[in-house]
Amino acid sequence: MSQTARFHPAGPLRGSVTPPPDKSLSHRAALIAAMHRGPVVVRNYLDAGDTNSTLGALRDLGTRVESRPDELLVRGIGLRGPQTVEEPIDVGNSGTLMRLLPGWLASQAGGSWTLDGDASIRRRPVDRIAEPLEMMGARLEAAEGRFPPFTVHGSRLRAVDYVQPQASAQVKSCVLLAGLLAEGETGVVEPARSRDHTERLLLRAGVAVRRDGSAVHVSSADELGLEAIDVPGDLSSAAFLIAAGILVPGSRLVLRDVGVNWTRTGFLRIAERMGAVIGGDREEPPRGDEIPWSEPVSDLDVAAGPLVGTTVGPEEVPLAIDELPLVALLGCFAEGETVVTGAAELKVKESDRIGAVVDGLRGLGALIEATEDGFAVTGTGGLGGGVLDSRGDHRLAMLGAVAGLASRDGVQVVGMDAAAVSYPQFHEHIGALA
Ligand code: S3P
Repeated sequence: MSQTARFHPAGPLRGSVTPPPDKSLSHRAALIAAMHRGPVVVRNYLDAGDTNSTLGALRDLGTRVESRPDELLVRGIGLRGPQTVEEPIDVGNSGTLMRLLPGWLASQAGGSWTLDGDASIRRRPVDRIAEPLEMMGARLEAAEGRFPPFTVHGSRLRAVDYVQPQASAQVKSCVLLAGLLAEGETGVVEPARSRDHTERLLLRAGVAVRRDGSAVHVSSADELGLEAIDVPGDLSSAAFLIAAGILVPGSRLVLRDVGVNWTRTGFLRIAERMGAVIGGDREEPPRGDEIPWSEPVSDLDVAAGPLVGTTVGPEEVPLAIDELPLVALLGCFAEGETVVTGAAELKVKESDRIGAVVDGLRGLGALIEATEDGFAVTGTGGLGGGVLDSRGDHRLAMLGAVAGLASRDGVQVVGMDAAAVSYPQFHEHIGALA
């Protein structure tokens, strides 16, 4: 049921909060633990809509998952272990689950699995994974050739070198996971760098993964070797609080234990370019091609301050993909113009995030235009207020909430319950800081 919530203009936000565990990494931790034969402890797994869908899917395939205080014990079934399932596997609202899991299933010769999800998932394309998986020898049958529900027919795979038409960590990860049981060394060439959590985790699991410029390669493996995985706090969730801290005058916040893998911190760099002052350690991009095997974590602190507009181009987009709605919001408060280009991918997220951000912020008084592959905002020194519809998209709901705290008149968010997909404690955390 759609829930409406009102966010009033806030006084200075103060205090510290530990954001929820990283969603991207939680999906990968559970999946790779399931691919391992035997128990793996996953600490700080995200307990939210999307990542619970992943546990459900892995249980369907025969994985046993036990919840213990503060950790999960995943009893993995091994690389060739997935069992057949009568009913479609329900991916819920999760695009990451829908695009990563088929990489594993595609390598199961003779097996077939159907995946389906909610109304938003049924609008999200899977041809982007069908193309490389079919080159490798699997087959995908999808509604209208490209939408869920779809069936993955597994096969003995051969390695390919797949050149991605658009940067996508989900597609890259899908191909790398398929490559684990393919004959030869599988490669993915990225048009721009995207998050590398899958590469880091596979490396830790003993897989031969290497980077060569814009390409990542994975060799086939007989089994994975893993004991425990620690999931850091989610920078994409923390970003909403960081934006609130930047925008609400007089604020000073500390976000504890946030993952600061450089392939995720694009939003921090963009916000800093706009004038935000954000303290804390950050991972630097490696100079060579080495793949770090760990996920760095830091406390981040932020204080409110004036902003100027900036330009975000295609190279930077994948490193801040889920935070681009927040860049638009910062742009409303900045002096001058903020322009994002090369972000057409936003149209196929949980909602059409170009249309939803532009309509949503315009409804609150913003001067914002949609472009072919992004948006342009002219700062007007703030936002009035009004009603914003989340369109069932968790990040839109939280965008509306932060806009409300920073607005002059407050914002009513329709569909606030969507936030539970990635950040069930969002309301509580805002309350603790306000
Ligand atoms: C994700 C990658 C991004 C991001 C999504 C999570 C991931 O999608 O938008 O929320 O976990 O790999 P794309 O890689 O398709 O751009």
